[in-house]
Amino acid sequence: MHYNNYIKLGVVNLKTYALVLAAGKGTRMKSNIPKCAFPILDKPIIEYVVERFEKSKYVDETILIVGYKKEYFYEHLSNRVIFAEQIEQKGTGHAVKCAIHHLEDKEGQTFIVPGDVPLLTPELTDEIIEKHLKEGNDLTVCTMILDDPLQYGRIIKDSKGQVLKIVEHKNATKKERLVKEVNTSIYVVKNGLLLEHINKIQHNELTEEYYLTDIVELMSANYKVGAFVIEDTYQTAGINDNKQASAIEEYLKEKINNKLMLNGVTMESPQTIRVSVDAVIEPGVTIKQNTIINGKSIIKKNSIIGPNTTIMNSKIDEEVIVEDSVIANSTIGEKSYVGPFAHIRDLSVIGKNVRVGNFTEVKNSTIGDDSFASHHAYIGDTKAGKRVNFGCGSVTVNFDGKEKYQTVIGNDVFIGCNVNLIAPIKIDDDVIIAAGSTITEDVKKGSLAIARNRQEVKEDFYYKHFNKIKNENNK
Ligand code: UD1
Ligand code: CA
Repeated sequence: MHYNNYIKLGVVNLKTYALVLAAGKGTRMKSNIPKCAFPILDKPIIEYVVERFEKSKYVDETILIVGYKKEYFYEHLSNRVIFAEQIEQKGTGHAVKCAIHHLEDKEGQTFIVPGDVPLLTPELTDEIIEKHLKEGNDLTVCTMILDDPLQYGRIIKDSKGQVLKIVEHKNATKKERLVKEVNTSIYVVKNGLLLEHINKIQHNELTEEYYLTDIVELMSANYKVGAFVIEDTYQTAGINDNKQASAIEEYLKEKINNKLMLNGVTMESPQTIRVSVDAVIEPGVTIKQNTIINGKSIIKKNSIIGPNTTIMNSKIDEEVIVEDSVIANSTIGEKSYVGPFAHIRDLSVIGKNVRVGNFTEVKNSTIGDDSFASHHAYIGDTKAGKRVNFGCGSVTVNFDGKEKYQTVIGNDVFIGCNVNLIAPIKIDDDVIIAAGSTITEDVKKGSLAIARNRQEVKEDFYYKHFNKIKNENNK
């Protein structure tokens, strides 16, 4: 309860709910994930929606109406919202009906919003609620004015600006279709009145659906129904098909990139760079073309990321270079150099001034400061100390086909080229492993371990084998 805000507005102790309509299938997306879970810059639409209400000054509780593929929402949003279920999708009015038993505070109000609108900000949400309360509306309908009103419901008003009704495009007369003010499907309504009127909505003759929009006509005769015109139509844009999803994504991508560049991030070909809304990129960072920075990644100043790089939910410290590589759920220390063509994943922690180079994969491993894995190494389930050199082609053999095992390596260890360390295994400090060794037993501090056949040389074998004569003049 945001008590102070209500005191300012003279309405103490009223609860505000957000009611999110997300039960629909989203047939036009032709996707096997529910429409409201479709990703925009790698983040599901519904995450944008739920976060908006978590950030709002007024909304106390979010109620999510789910139906189609409801398991997805239960799995990803439990503890953050209250769920209501609409088993059969019989229209927006019916969806609200399925959730109203959660509106315990009859004196409070509810902000109703479709679950497919990602870009409405918490600030605008609060502005709408504030205006609704200040004007003493019983119902506020958020509208927008479009040159081409498309398939949207039309807002029909009287001469004083009171909203009389909303007519769906399908049901509108020719004259009504000329109206350019349309319904965004965002409303604020007093709970008592919502409860009273929602059951009065009749099913539509044409579509058999119960339209939430009908509540406007039911209330307008006896109650105050106001309109809030939203000017930034990106904030009200709903996503119904892949083309709209892509348009919203492009818009958001450009907005994020412009903000970053104005804040001192250098971007080469920004149209090819995708940064998530939740990533933090410090001034002084350079991002090169075809780079994706996802999730809650953090890139510290003076790092150079890209080209052709994906960073997912990872932290990159200052002055790091990452080129042509993939880093997922991992941390890279200061001044380290990753790539080209490296893959670091599964909670790996790379220290400072480390080189993870060409065709090296690091999985669920820690590598200490000043270490090298410059080419063709696999480091999995490993804890390596400082100043470790992984030679070209060295492998921590962590899997026996059934279980995964750990490799532990101390400080100042030199692992020669083409070495297999068969885990579980422990290599102490100050050790050298000879190139080509397959090491199956722990190696003690200070030792050289060689585990390969001694070289045997059979002189002049070549000439006997091929029946040739040796040219002693070396020509
Ligand atoms: C609705 C409005 C229309 C408005 C438009 C704005 C109605 C009747 N019409 O139309 O006036 O201009 O939004 O975008 O309300 N949903 C359910 N259960 C259902 C049906 C829908 O949960 O039974 C959910 C959907 O998942 C979606 C939202 O409600 O998130 C809106 O549904 P949609 O079918 O997209 O409504 P529109 O036809 O666009
Ligand atoms: Ca090898």
